[in-house]
Amino acid sequence: MLVTGAAAGIGLACARRFLTEGARVAMVDRDPERLSGARDSLAASERAFVIALDVSDAAAVREGVGEATRRMGGIDGIVNNAAVDLLRPFAEVSASDWNGVMAVNLVGAMEVCRAALDPLAASGRGAIVNVASAAGLRPVPGRVAYCASKAALIMATRALALELAERGIRANAVCPGAVDTGLFRASLGDAITVEDVKARYAQRRIGDAEEIAAAVAFLLSDEASFITGSALAVDGGRAFH
Ligand SMILES: NC(=O)c1ccc[n+]([C@@H]2O[C@H](COP(=O)([O-])OP(=O)(O)OC[C@H]3O[C@@H](n4cnc5c(N)ncnc54)[C@H](O)[C@@H]3O)[C@@H](O)[C@H]2O)c1
Repeated sequence: MLVTGAAAGIGLACARRFLTEGARVAMVDRDPERLSGARDSLAASERAFVIALDVSDAAAVREGVGEATRRMGGIDGIVNNAAVDLLRPFAEVSASDWNGVMAVNLVGAMEVCRAALDPLAASGRGAIVNVASAAGLRPVPGRVAYCASKAALIMATRALALELAERGIRANAVCPGAVDTGLFRASLGDAITVEDVKARYAQRRIGDAEEIAAAVAFLLSDEASFITGSALAVDGGRAFH
């Protein structure tokens, strides 16, 4: 398995879950120190390989995916989880802000997929899960670039699923609702509290990273062998109301 954004939050929960299931895991993140610390915090860390790179650097992605393939002896699953948020009124979102968000959240994820095509196909059970967002299914205020990047990631996942089926590779998206991570905490402030966010959810709570990792693990597993091109909301009922 290869997981991007694996130094914290949902990516780290995915890495932990795959290691528990006995997999070898390439943990990719742009923050080398936090990445090493995260790896060392895991049980079975001898099966976890850290690869520090920024997913918006296409050359580094090609090299890193090659290294992950060599160290793990192949790749049968990819989790594109690394992303950046941008909470800013639309009037202040510059072209460079747009490019920065899309470069990581959309193009970065696609470059990881592209670099891993051959090992995924060679595995005979290759699967991709792109971590999108409930914000890619319905809009949230102050996040126009983030919402658009996640909606684009969902459609790119569906288009990929169509194109990669003939190589035996499945591609799905998960769309988390609010999950208590650094990214989520950074979006709170005086104007919006955790209680305000909880009130928007049918289940009146936010999620745990482990709940997202469980959905990711299912979509990567052979249990999901007839599921491709789906966008699974894992959001306590937020997307439907
Ligand atoms: N937390 C939420 O409420 C929530 C809700 C919906 C979707 N998501 C999505 O879940 C995913 C994980 O989010 P999280 O909340 O765990 O975030 P997080 O900020 O806790 O962790 C993200 C990790 O990604 C890494 N990262 C960021 N940009 C990178 C890059 N360019 N290259 C390599 N690594 C990079 C960071 O260093 C960090 O370790 C993201 O795709 C996010 O959009 C999160």
